[in-house]
Amino acid sequence: MSRKLITLIMLISLVVTLAMSGCGQQSNQSAAKTIKVGSETTFPPFEFQDDQTKDYVGFDVDLVKAIGKQLGCEIEFVSMGFDGLIPALESKQIDVAASGMTITPERSEKVTFSQPYYKSGLSVITKKTDTTINSFNDLAGKRLAVQIGTTSAETAKKIPTATVREFNSPSEAFLELSAGGADAVINDLPVNEYYLSQGGNKDFKLVGEVINAEDYGLAINKNNPELAEKINTALTELKKNGEYDKIYEKWFGKKPQ
Ligand code: ARG
Repeated sequence: MSRKLITLIMLISLVVTLAMSGCGQQSNQSAAKTIKVGSETTFPPFEFQDDQTKDYVGFDVDLVKAIGKQLGCEIEFVSMGFDGLIPALESKQIDVAASGMTITPERSEKVTFSQPYYKSGLSVITKKTDTTINSFNDLAGKRLAVQIGTTSAETAKKIPTATVREFNSPSEAFLELSAGGADAVINDLPVNEYYLSQGGNKDFKLVGEVINAEDYGLAINKNNPELAEKINTALTELKKNGEYDKIYEKWFGKKPQ
């Protein structure tokens, strides 16, 4: 066999291997290369439905699409309850959860998290007329509204003598506050800030300091380390090539700290 032929054969097998390892767990060439991404899509500016187009939009949505592009994969979003995301990953209904999900030790026992992609924290919203709640420490004995399955829900449940009501979305928690059924909402700071900056409710204010520094990560099925690795490599590349910064500025109007 000529050298040229050998080189050619080696090249072809390399290309085929690369093509086959293309996307997620799909090794079937005829199947579309699609990553199924689960998300609770009432969490602006991370994931929400555009009023007009009804498309899913937001920081996480753009980030995951950019990762898909890096990996040469289609992205399909599946909207579901936040407390259903980890079970859906475990039962392989979805490949990835992109949902402003905080990396926690308990969750890390069930799923693999990507490298952190957003620094967050929790904060409190009350009515402007409420003078009794000025910090997180004033929440004891209060009626709190939170989104189900979140770190806010966990945090609220640890507050002595507080009554906690859990809702499917942060907007329902805000409605409860507005209707007088709750004294405060605990929720992720960037989501609270975005809500207020978009004119969410003129009678609400953000109070006190930010509690619990939290990192968001993309969650991946524990038995799919290949996908986790690819996503991490893609994230590193996006942080390096300026694409991550662009998406960050688009949604937060400033450069990442
Ligand atoms: N960061 C919080 C958590 O992980 C809340 C996330 C809620 N996300 C959402 N898309 N609704 O518990």
